[in-house]
This record gives sequence, C-alpha cells and structure tokens, in this order.
Amino acid sequence: MSDVEQALRQALSQVVPDALQQDLVAAGAVKEIRVGWREVKVRVQLGYPCDSLLPALRLQLESLLAPLVGSKRLALELDWKVVAHRTQQEKAPLPKVKNLIAVASGKGGVGKSTTTANLALALAQEGARVGILDADIFGPSMPTMFGIKEGTRPEIRGEQHFVPPRAHGVQLMSIGFMIDPDTAVVWRGPKASGALQQLATQTLWEDLDFLLVDLPPGTSDIQLTLAQRLPVAGSVVVTTPQEIALADARKGIEMFQKVDINVLGVVENMALHQCSQCGHVDHLFGEGGGGTLAARYRTELLGSMPLVSRIRVQADAGTPVVMAAPDSLEAGLYRSMARRMAALLSLRPGAPQSIVKMAMRPN
Ligand SMILES: Nc1ncnc2c1ncn2[C@@H]1O[C@H](COP(=O)(O)OP(=O)(O)OP(=O)(O)O)[C@@H](O)[C@H]1O
Ligand SMILES: [Mg+2]
Repeated sequence: MSDVEQALRQALSQVVPDALQQDLVAAGAVKEIRVGWREVKVRVQLGYPCDSLLPALRLQLESLLAPLVGSKRLALELDWKVVAHRTQQEKAPLPKVKNLIAVASGKGGVGKSTTTANLALALAQEGARVGILDADIFGPSMPTMFGIKEGTRPEIRGEQHFVPPRAHGVQLMSIGFMIDPDTAVVWRGPKASGALQQLATQTLWEDLDFLLVDLPPGTSDIQLTLAQRLPVAGSVVVTTPQEIALADARKGIEMFQKVDINVLGVVENMALHQCSQCGHVDHLFGEGGGGTLAARYRTELLGSMPLVSRIRVQADAGTPVVMAAPDSLEAGLYRSMARRMAALLSLRPGAPQSIVKMAMRPN
C-alpha cells in the first residue's frame, strides 16, 4: 500500500456518518482507492439510502482527502446501494425484493401502521425503492393512510399476479384491496395465513430495496406464517413506553429471536407529549421503557416519537406526516430512524449471491 493510499485510508477511518455509527473503513464502505499518475480515485459506497446526507458528506470527504493527494486530482465517487441481506434459514428473497422487514408490536394500537407508513416514506425520500405489505388481514389500515380510494383493486396480470397500486411513490399491497373489510374478520387462522402468503408472493413488486410488512398486533398465526414462510431480513418492534405494552413487546422480540429473525431495533412511540399551548412536556406513557427493552434484548432504540396530533391527522387524511410536512420535526425523526434501521441492516451479512441472482433476475 502506498503512503498516499495509507493516508487516505487512515483519514476515511476517522469519518463516522451519523446513521452508521461506525467509520467508513470498518463498515466496509470504502470500495476502492486507486492512486494513478495524475488522479487519485476514491470510491465510497454506503449500504443504506441517504440522499439527504450525501452532499454534506461529499464536502466533508473532499476537504479531508484533497490535502492528502498533493498535486494530483481527487476523483471521489460517493453513493449508496442497498443489497439483499441474509434471511432466517437462508430463505431466498421474494422475486424483485431485496429486503423484507417486518414491523411488529405486541400490543395493539401502539402505532405500528403509522410507523410503517412513515418509515416507508422516509426511506423513499432518502432515495430507496420501497413497498408496503399490509399484513393486517383483520384490520388493514394502509389504503386509508395512503389515501387510496375505496374500491380500488389491484390490476391482475396473467393467471394469478397482482400489480401493486402506488401512492406517494410507494408500492402498496393490502388485503383491504381484495375484500370487503367485514369479510376478513370471520376468517380463521389458516385462511388468513394463506392470504398473507399469497399477497407477498403473487404481487409483482418492482425492484424493491425494502418491503415493509405491517403486521397485526400480537404473536398469532400471521406472525408465525411470516416467520416460517417468508424471507425476513430484519424486524422492527414498535411499543409505547408503558409497562403493559413493553411486556407484550418483549414477547414479540422473543418470538423473532426464537425463529432467527434479526431485530434491528425498537421504536418507542407516543413517548412524550408537548402541550401546544404552554410547551409543557409530559411523559404520558412513562419514560425510557423502549431503551431499557432494547438493551435487555441486545438490540437498539431506533428512536422515540412524540405524541403529535398531526401524525394522526395526516395519517387519517391519507398523506402521512413525512410526506405532508417533510420539514417537520416528526418527519426528520422518522427519516433518522429509517436511516439507522437501514444502516443496521447494511452491517449484517449479505445473502448468498447464488440465491440473490435467482430472485432479482428479470421477468
Ligand atoms: N406518534 C403519534 N402521535 C399521534 N398519534 C399517533 C402516533 N402514532 C400513532 N398515532 C395514532 O394512533 C392510532 C393508532 O395507530 P396505528 O393504527 O398506527 O396503530 P397500530 O399499532 O397499527 O394499531 P393496530 O394494532 O390496531 O394495528 C392512530 O389513530 C394513529 O394515527
Ligand atoms: Mg395497524
């Protein structure tokens, strides 16, 4: 290794992007350093979507590296690329879906669907190609949150494939598109599980970096089907900080860990409330529970979302807050959680190339 290369590598090992919390060299993001006669080429590629951060990172790297190449020209290539990661028992990825991420909770009503919708939009804003599979067979909420008109049906291709409707740049599939909501409620476990599997495998997803699966609450047949039948690259557990929600979230994490599904992190939702009148901050559901839970299971608190009425209002109105108010504090928080989640996944082992090739080949 030349002196210049060594100096560049040393400098790059001092740079720690916020979502990665590891330096570029240790994270394997430095793909190439080539010292030529006139030019020094440095190629840095992050493994998670981060369009919003690249301009600042570029400036930082250029000012750091330029003094190290003397009179030569510095050609810095900087981008990101999501690859398919290992799934439980090396299950092959779904066709055209690099990473399936399950969003779960123990207790109902803690904000899974809201979190899924906003995380998906946040990933899309960072440049990723994203889909959502609404696996809440008994109470699908994605069509409403994405403002999809009632009665919308996915286009059917060939014998048995569905084209997912798109909204706000996200590909969406939900049992809510297929049946009238009152019908599903009476379905028994096996039928609901079959429906989930069909939705996941018969949808013509189009080159997704991430497919987020919004699960119903609890650890029932649907979660079991997901764990046994679908290739899951990682999961996120949503909880409120109160004890009864945390106790249920524990069961959720234990279920994933038992079936070898990596828990990327915990999202603590409705963590605090700030009075819009006086600014007083109240920890409605207790404090710090998400962090303690994450630490206990050796996973991570991805972030704490405050209880903010516009999160509910925008979701009910069909344009979640990340889309409706991208400059808001909440949108920023969702983006930072989404980047961290994706960065954690990027640090996990990749899926075997032979399997990936099969799954990603053109139709
Ligand atoms: N951080 C938040 N601030 C304000 N309202 C929120 C927040 N998160 C979720 N909500 C609202 O709380 C309600 C429940 O959220 P959501 O439907 O996402 O929960 P869920 O866990 O998916 O519920 P279920 O278990 O029924 O699927 C919704 O009305 C949603 O708009
Ligand atoms: Mg829900």
